[in-house]
Amino acid sequence: MSVSQLHQRLSETGQCHLLQFWNDLQEEEQLALCQELQAMEFKELNLFFQRAMEDFNRSASQEKVDARMEAVPREVLGSITRDRDRLQEWQKEGFLQISQNKVAVVLLAGGQGTRLGVTYPKGMYDVGLPSHKTLFQIQAERILKLEHLAEAQHGKKCTIPWYIMTSGRTMESTEQFFLKHKYFDLKKENVFFFQQGMLPAMSFEGKILLEEKGKVAMAPDGNGGLYRALGSQQVLKDMERRGIEYIHVYCVDNILVRVADPVFMGFCVQKGVDCGVKVVEKTNPTEPVGVVCKVDGVYQVVEYSEITLATAQKRTADGRLMFNAGNIANHFFTLAFLRDIVNIYEPRLQHHVAQKKIPFVDTQGRLIKPDKPNGIKMEKFVFDIFQFAKKFAVYETLREEEFSPLKNADSQNGKDNPTTARHALMSLHHCWVLNAGGHFIDENGTRIPAIPLLKDANDLPVQCEISPLVSYAGEGLEMYVQEKEFHTPLIIDENGVQELMKNGL
Ligand code: UTP
Repeated sequence: MSVSQLHQRLSETGQCHLLQFWNDLQEEEQLALCQELQAMEFKELNLFFQRAMEDFNRSASQEKVDARMEAVPREVLGSITRDRDRLQEWQKEGFLQISQNKVAVVLLAGGQGTRLGVTYPKGMYDVGLPSHKTLFQIQAERILKLEHLAEAQHGKKCTIPWYIMTSGRTMESTEQFFLKHKYFDLKKENVFFFQQGMLPAMSFEGKILLEEKGKVAMAPDGNGGLYRALGSQQVLKDMERRGIEYIHVYCVDNILVRVADPVFMGFCVQKGVDCGVKVVEKTNPTEPVGVVCKVDGVYQVVEYSEITLATAQKRTADGRLMFNAGNIANHFFTLAFLRDIVNIYEPRLQHHVAQKKIPFVDTQGRLIKPDKPNGIKMEKFVFDIFQFAKKFAVYETLREEEFSPLKNADSQNGKDNPTTARHALMSLHHCWVLNAGGHFIDENGTRIPAIPLLKDANDLPVQCEISPLVSYAGEGLEMYVQEKEFHTPLIIDENGVQELMKNGL
């Protein structure tokens, strides 16, 4: 396509400002811009913008959804605390499916991690554990361990393939990182990288923004970009080829995530659902977390901003919040369901509008870094497809055991940062050691109380880290710790028990 043809296409769709700096560009910059613009479907993009803005304005002017909301009914709910007698049975089912190579995991790792503020993919982040393992390594080792546990139970080798969604911005560095670390001992052919789509950022008037004179400001299309990518990147085909039936989808930033959790998978399989979601109990009415509930009889996630405080504060007879199923982006899908999503429903999903501060080049060619939102990014969400489930289930787990996301840098605020993630993991592993009959002692040889008194945020929890290669969820630790006392920091890994101070490490 010639430049004049491109100009024509852009004029027809109101985007010809994208060529305004054409004469300032070097030849190779012109070529790159041309290629970038030729690949874009401007009519479709304008339609996405129009629909997303209509939806955004409609919801802004609409009444809150309170009156149409219904809490998750008990019959679709499984709970780690309220169904203790069923957990073993669900776990057994999960391991059976894993041992038959029917379970796969999909990792959502295409985000930009803007709040964390690193230039590399979030999965490569080291939160400062004694082992300095990254999020990717922790998750890879949990998969390995599960395969070993399933093999030990069923006497045959099995594989949990890992599908890692990246974006145009993170694909190369993610792949390089895995290569450098030899896929953390997983087999290379069982780790599948794929890319989600990218969309241009737009002004509030629907004009595509330039981040450089010859470069469009692009952003990943949200974690719900998964569904388009599953089809376009041949992921579903690969799953079909392997005979996968059940898929666990999760986010890269949760340091406690139980990847392919056999209890959750088994629960969903036994319930016979096509779509399941893991939640943690929301206990504080004003916590800004989305809750899973029904609206007009259909399951969805309702954001805190969509309801009134009075509804957020409603409690049931047992004192819990009525709308307490806090969404942690942790899902179960059958392959058949995902196939229908990709083939039938995905095009019907609307983009959501995220108002952002987007650096852009103004008409004078100056790079402007706005201090208030100046445009939108369009995103789909991974939970947008709940509405299409024929049978839906919710599994409630404990936050302190399974959810501690890494969102912010330590400097930003005291929530969901490297320190809270590190502390959450070490506190959990401390509990595992106590549950397995071990004890911790301080420098005077005095036992540290089971619930250490942390006076303020600077107080350290007991420094204890257990490799996922040793224990997936606290099991199998008695042989290492029973009736023993340990100094901290303590690491238990494939080399055994290491008390770092004692060993002078
Ligand atoms: P967040 O919405 O928290 O975004 O993503 P983020 O990129 O991690 O961080 P910010 O908002 O830029 O600070 C939740 C999960 O969804 C994935 C992320 O990688 C994370 O696992 N995600 C997000 C995608 O895979 N693609 C996207 O387009 C957006």
